[in-house]
Amino acid sequence: MRLHRTRRVALPRLLGSLLLVTAAGISGIGAAPEGPVADGGPAAGPPRPLGQIVPAPVRAEPGGSPYTITPATRIRVGGDSGEVRRIGDYLAGVLRPSTGYALPVTGDGGDGIRLRLDEDNPELGAEGYRLKSGSGSVTITARGPAGLFHGVQTLRQLLPAAVERKSPQKGPWKVAGGTVTDAPRYAYRSAMLDVSRHFFSVAEVKRYIDQLALYKMNKLHLHLSDDQGWRIAIDSWPRLATYGGQTEVGGGLGGHYTKSDYREIVRYAASRYLEVVPEIDLPGHTNAALASYAELNCDGVAPPLYTGTQVGFSSLCVPKAVTYDFVDDVVREVAELTPGEYFHIGGDEAHSTSHEDYVAFMDRAQAVVGKYGKTVIGWHQLTGATPVKGAIAQYWGYDRTGAAEREQVARAAANGTKLVLSPADRGYLDMKYDKDTELGLSWAGYVSVERSYDWNPAAYLDGVPQEAVLGVEAPLWSETLTDSGEIEQMAFPRLPGIAELGWSPAATHDWEAYRVRLGAQGPRLSALGVDYYRAPQVPWATE
Ligand code: ACM
Repeated sequence: MRLHRTRRVALPRLLGSLLLVTAAGISGIGAAPEGPVADGGPAAGPPRPLGQIVPAPVRAEPGGSPYTITPATRIRVGGDSGEVRRIGDYLAGVLRPSTGYALPVTGDGGDGIRLRLDEDNPELGAEGYRLKSGSGSVTITARGPAGLFHGVQTLRQLLPAAVERKSPQKGPWKVAGGTVTDAPRYAYRSAMLDVSRHFFSVAEVKRYIDQLALYKMNKLHLHLSDDQGWRIAIDSWPRLATYGGQTEVGGGLGGHYTKSDYREIVRYAASRYLEVVPEIDLPGHTNAALASYAELNCDGVAPPLYTGTQVGFSSLCVPKAVTYDFVDDVVREVAELTPGEYFHIGGDEAHSTSHEDYVAFMDRAQAVVGKYGKTVIGWHQLTGATPVKGAIAQYWGYDRTGAAEREQVARAAANGTKLVLSPADRGYLDMKYDKDTELGLSWAGYVSVERSYDWNPAAYLDGVPQEAVLGVEAPLWSETLTDSGEIEQMAFPRLPGIAELGWSPAATHDWEAYRVRLGAQGPRLSALGVDYYRAPQVPWATE
């Protein structure tokens, strides 16, 4: 359900981008230009180098003739797996509009673009793939469908950027000859979208999912509740959404996802091999819930709805029995809608909950998550309570985070709590790039593209064993963001860097090489209509 609201338009920023675009002689921010490009246009010339992709692959071995997609090309889906056929259909959906070719998806053998499952190849793991390209065919082999899907993203990136456009373009559609062998460094590669501070429609979330898939991310963490809005329908507590969801930061009309909306997001994410991780932030960040139900408050009085940007002022009433009826109902209903393994219970900035109450509350909330069959994730403050066995802590500290807090996280990690790393001064996509960035916040400092990319998750926190790091996340808080264009200005180009930290071997890490590969993504992002920030640190290609 979407409520109408007026959008704030960041005019100076928009004007700035337009001027920049004109000066650089590049079209394509916002709507992609239509119509075929001229002969000898961007797609002509040698194919892009194998390995010039983001995230960097484990191995790229160029050699042999390139493969060229032609009007006769077929997409061959081996075996009888319906999922492989579905990935073939997805690939055809990417390639048909721009190539203008029929690209039938067929089950038979022969040359063409071949998608194959093969249980051998243990080195590819659950998500890896091998892509072999030569004169007659390009073959993507994986042990499972997720690997094939990631291999398809590599194939996209090896083709000219114009392949991403939605109208016929002139080829040739060449893929360099050789072999790419690839598998992720980390199993947990996530992006978070805060749909609470501002509400984003199902279509806006799907658009973001497609962008995450291009960079091989595999989790979408949805921050579904906060002081400013409750965004998911709960049948047993209906006012959470119908009342608590009706506003957002700045006072605009918010909105919420019906259960069917949420299922559609989960389904769409799964079709792009992303798992949705729902977050209900507890026991702080709960003003929208407290405003919806007076009985959740210790004094029995509902506060007004909140549309500001302060944090730390709200808390569930830890001693009250009804609090646990609420937690049980909400976790049960959201868990029922969520096929994935994880349930995020927040736990950050509970500044209005005493430490004793916080520890008692987190014990009970974690037990509820376990009762409904999910693995607990909490922001790293969970390590100041008693993380249950198997719980995951999400580190969001930054350079000013005190030693005691870091040591507490490290101790928990040494004791078996796994970590997802999203340091605010590296991974928070809502931090301004520099002093001139119009959108975003700066409490963790400015986060340039280089700063966002240039850290090592395995060595980031002293005293944390490497095996404790499950992966990385790029959170995007939305106090200042109201639509897809604004999401994209902040997420791009930093999101591909966090995706690379999650996927690529540490040995490939090199800012100078990365910024060139990232620059080569510019024309692709433009072709996709992604409103990315043309960071001056990056040599943007003009394909
Ligand atoms: C957070 O940024 N409060 C997790």
